[in-house]
Amino acid sequence: MSLAKKTLDSIDFTGKRAFVRVDFNVPLKDGVIGDDTRIRAALPTIQSILGAGGSVVLGSHLGRPKGQVVEELRMAPVAKHLQALLGAQVPVKTVTEVQGDAVAAAATELQAGEVLLLEDLRFEPGETNDDPFLAESLAELAEVFVQDAFGTCHRAHASTAGVPHLMEAAVAGKLLQKEIEAFDMAFGAPKRPVVAVIGGAKVSDKIVVLENLLDKVDTVLVGGGMAYTFLA
Ligand code: 3PG
Repeated sequence: MSLAKKTLDSIDFTGKRAFVRVDFNVPLKDGVIGDDTRIRAALPTIQSILGAGGSVVLGSHLGRPKGQVVEELRMAPVAKHLQALLGAQVPVKTVTEVQGDAVAAAATELQAGEVLLLEDLRFEPGETNDDPFLAESLAELAEVFVQDAFGTCHRAHASTAGVPHLMEAAVAGKLLQKEIEAFDMAFGAPKRPVVAVIGGAKVSDKIVVLENLLDKVDTVLVGGGMAYTFLA
């Protein structure tokens, strides 16, 4: 199937609920969001589905709570910020759980043009284990799966790997689509020289990426937190 068939444009969202896996794993300190780039990056997908007559159930992780409820990692500050970004005409509803009767009821009651943000997906131990029961209960919340969590879609977790197989349709959101098109541009038939700029804190995750890049790019520039590992 071509990329075009797996994007938002291939779905008629009229009257449909979409489960959108987003990456709202933003830096939080004392309930204050330090950088909202990831929330803003998901807006085009959310707005596009709402504009097409659908409703949106959002699922994200926040931090690494390791399968238990960690009060500081609740999604409430994110919901508040998302509400401010979307404006009062788009109600952003919340639940304080990831699965269960209250979550199912909130999803069923969702009207076209409304958004429901689930609690931190990693409060459930089944999220990082790709638990089929958790995947099933998430899949029941909507008809269409939309993957827009670019920073997380490499993880084989319930919300990223389990859910899409259980749904009527699974497509890429606008952020993911944009990133894949950028990859195609850089690695398809790029104009040389190609310079890769890599940053971030989690060097262990990025070693494989760096190894993979070595024969594809001409120069790798390493910055951010992981630069210290190289200096050491
Ligand atoms: C990130 O911040 O890199 C992503 O949100 C993924 O988070 P994780 O490394 O905890 O899976």
